[in-house]
Amino acid sequence: MAPSSEQKINVISLRDLERQAEKVLPPFGFHFIAGGSGDEWTLRENEAAFDRVVIEPRFLSGVKVPDTTTTILGAKLALPVLAAPMGMHGFAHAGKEAGTAKGTAAAGALYVTPSVSNLSVEDIAAANGTGARWFQIYFPEDPGYAREQLQRAKAAGYTAIVLTVDATSFGNRERAARLGLKPPPHLGFGNMPKSPALAGQNPDLQKKDLTFADVAFCQKESGLPVLVKGVLTPGLAAECVKQGCAGVWVSNHGGRQLDHSPATFAVLPKIADAVGGKIPIVVDSGIRRGQDVFRCLALGASVVGIGRPLLYGLALGGAQGVEAVFQRLKAELVMTMQLAGTASVDKITADYVAPAVRS
Ligand code: FNR
Repeated sequence: MAPSSEQKINVISLRDLERQAEKVLPPFGFHFIAGGSGDEWTLRENEAAFDRVVIEPRFLSGVKVPDTTTTILGAKLALPVLAAPMGMHGFAHAGKEAGTAKGTAAAGALYVTPSVSNLSVEDIAAANGTGARWFQIYFPEDPGYAREQLQRAKAAGYTAIVLTVDATSFGNRERAARLGLKPPPHLGFGNMPKSPALAGQNPDLQKKDLTFADVAFCQKESGLPVLVKGVLTPGLAAECVKQGCAGVWVSNHGGRQLDHSPATFAVLPKIADAVGGKIPIVVDSGIRRGQDVFRCLALGASVVGIGRPLLYGLALGGAQGVEAVFQRLKAELVMTMQLAGTASVDKITADYVAPAVRS
């Protein structure tokens, strides 16, 4: 059984949470969340890539209270961080996605609901309340089912669509098999089709041969801005700009899909070059520190996404645990901005970072 505790948690570092969550989560749930694909090289590299870039502080810069607020596609955020879409929060907590959506809103961050959530987009929106929210879709085989999901999301107050393009085949996540773990009883999908004509469809079954026509479909059917999630090359980023995407989301799915694809932080600068400031860039995968948020913004990201630490916070304290994860990251970002000498998020530029020099 997934935990159900609702309590304040004391987060000293996001990195501590994995070990703490392992103690309260059933083994299959923990390894489903924590694991990566293949040899987990990309999973490790996501965090290791940050060690190759240092922050060069500007002291005596007269900054009194750093301002972490920002705006992305019209959403006003208290910090430049969003909750990356993750399926099946029921593995982490009995309240499923409701706690994550509530805790994210309480922190003034943006919540991205996955199409493969255990709760429905409507129930998650209710828990998110007046918080900012986007809807992430795995494009299904049947465009009618895609249309239904897009329209439900729009009606429930989601203000942008995120089309994930890096999961047209399931990554080889081997931990559970290697450890001999059996999946728990199915937790249910909240976004099963409503229309009888779509019976038998499943949000987890995706169209394999995705193209930009599917991006255009999402734009047309939702009438909302569409971001493409899973971009790892400047070529695709430039094409997203050309095809009228509202944003590029640099991600390797937290090292869960194509192992030996690059760390997102390593490819961010060349993607930022290709985008040339024309549309916002979101980046996720391996971000665990305020210093990581700062370095991503310095190298061209508008906002960063975090994944696993939020599910660990959820497991440990429900909505309050999720809020505490954001508050810790915000406190570290404020400290980093203060010590680096940057008064506001828009002032964090490449001038503040440099390659780490190793002797
Ligand atoms: C994910 N991710 C993901 N991405 C997506 O577009 N749709 C999804 O349904 C899921 N599901 C999912 C489940 C779990 C348990 C995890 C850990 C991740 C990927 C997610 O959006 C994000 O890209 C990564 O989690 C970011 O990496 P970190 O912060 O977890 O290292």
